[in-house]
Amino acid sequence: MVARRPFPPRKRFRLRRLQRLLFGAAPARAGARRTRLAKADSGLTKETTPVAPASPRKDGIEKVQEHVKVQLEKSYKNFQASRGAGDLQQFDARTAVKRVVPRYARINGLVPGVTWGEVQRQLQRTGHTFWRPSLSEKRQAVRRPEGLEGSVPAGKKIYYRDVHLPDVLVFRPMGQSCVDDVNLFDEGALVFQQKASMFPALALEPAPGAQVIDACAAPGSKTSQMAAMMKNEGTIFAFDRDGRRLRTMMNLLKQRHVTCVEACEKDFLQSSPEDARYRNVTHFLLDPSCSSSGMTAQPISDDLAVKQLAENQKKVILHAMRFPACERIAYSTCSIYEEENEKVVQHVLQDQLGAHFELEATLPWWPRRGSPKFEEVASRCVRSSWEDQTIGFFCALFVKEEPSVRDRVTGRPRQAVFTAGQAVLVVGGPEWRGGALLEGH
Ligand SMILES: C[S@@+](CC[C@H](N)C(=O)[O-])C[C@H]1O[C@@H](n2cnc3c(N)ncnc32)[C@H](O)[C@@H]1O
Repeated sequence: MVARRPFPPRKRFRLRRLQRLLFGAAPARAGARRTRLAKADSGLTKETTPVAPASPRKDGIEKVQEHVKVQLEKSYKNFQASRGAGDLQQFDARTAVKRVVPRYARINGLVPGVTWGEVQRQLQRTGHTFWRPSLSEKRQAVRRPEGLEGSVPAGKKIYYRDVHLPDVLVFRPMGQSCVDDVNLFDEGALVFQQKASMFPALALEPAPGAQVIDACAAPGSKTSQMAAMMKNEGTIFAFDRDGRRLRTMMNLLKQRHVTCVEACEKDFLQSSPEDARYRNVTHFLLDPSCSSSGMTAQPISDDLAVKQLAENQKKVILHAMRFPACERIAYSTCSIYEEENEKVVQHVLQDQLGAHFELEATLPWWPRRGSPKFEEVASRCVRSSWEDQTIGFFCALFVKEEPSVRDRVTGRPRQAVFTAGQAVLVVGGPEWRGGALLEGH
């Protein structure tokens, strides 16, 4: 490893000046640390570049927006040149610049004493105001991917519960949400995680006691989310081939009171399906490296690189299908390219191994589905875009085709109906996860 040399004084000075320009005074240590954690949580680490800085000061916002706009437009042009006209609707640089994605925080039930009331009390102490939408606002919002956007009042330090994911808080105003003084983040009681990045674990549904492989786990946002869903009961084998990212993950998991994870510094493709340790693993979460075109201003966009990423993505899914007890596989990317999403899913289903699996109509309460160009798979996959107040994302769920597996996993008949690529919700049906909200929180 090459030792990192400290910045020479002149560079340090320039860095500070830039920092002051963008953020005002240099961020306090705790704030800087929290920004690092936030980055790790949303996957915005070395692999990716953030769309916009987390909390720019008012006088810096225009400069930041201008910078992001230039980056996005550059990226948009590359995208246009390399991907053809089909996807352009999904990559509207101007809309994205205006709507900087808000900050989401998941309430982490693994931390003792964390209740909704306690979270509200602490946020009140730091001057945050809870906004409660009306029942009719909620009813309308739950059917729109952008949720409550448009109804939220203007103001400083506003937060509210996400309309689709009730255990998730949304901090406003976007791009300026100030949470540096909220200790709940340092204690692991609140965890920064982008809304769409929570979809794979929700689709996979690992219950307490489950045996899970998280094949591309670092920095562990989805791993810790699954651990919370499992109440720390069962095992998550968390693989990552990058040791440094894996160590970051272990530190974050400790802070979040996660105790059911076995970290494996290894390429998942080198793991053996015959290994006795994985004999009972039924659930697989696969979130491999991708172009990051759903969350960065400068994604990987040259054809060869995207093709290579797609090859690794296909290999990872097919490898998971080789494990003897595999029942459910959630596959996800933070990419908006069809090559890494619907095309990968289609390829896998056409493979000999994939023939034993079917594509589940996952998260039917989420309105934005896969690209309609891929008729056979579109309505069963979910997508999100910046227009939905979150990052561009894709998620699909493969389920072993044997009827015994389906009964054991769901234990109930499916009630969601799909028409023309849109989920029609059976309110109160078994898939209705947004339902709790209608009871009024
Ligand atoms: C998009 S990030 C994963 C983010 C993570 N799931 C989360 O929620 O925080 C992709 C990670 O997959 C790892 N990776 C990619 N291919 C892999 C493979 N074949 N085996 C193990 N790790 C892999 C990369 O090192 C990288 O850390």
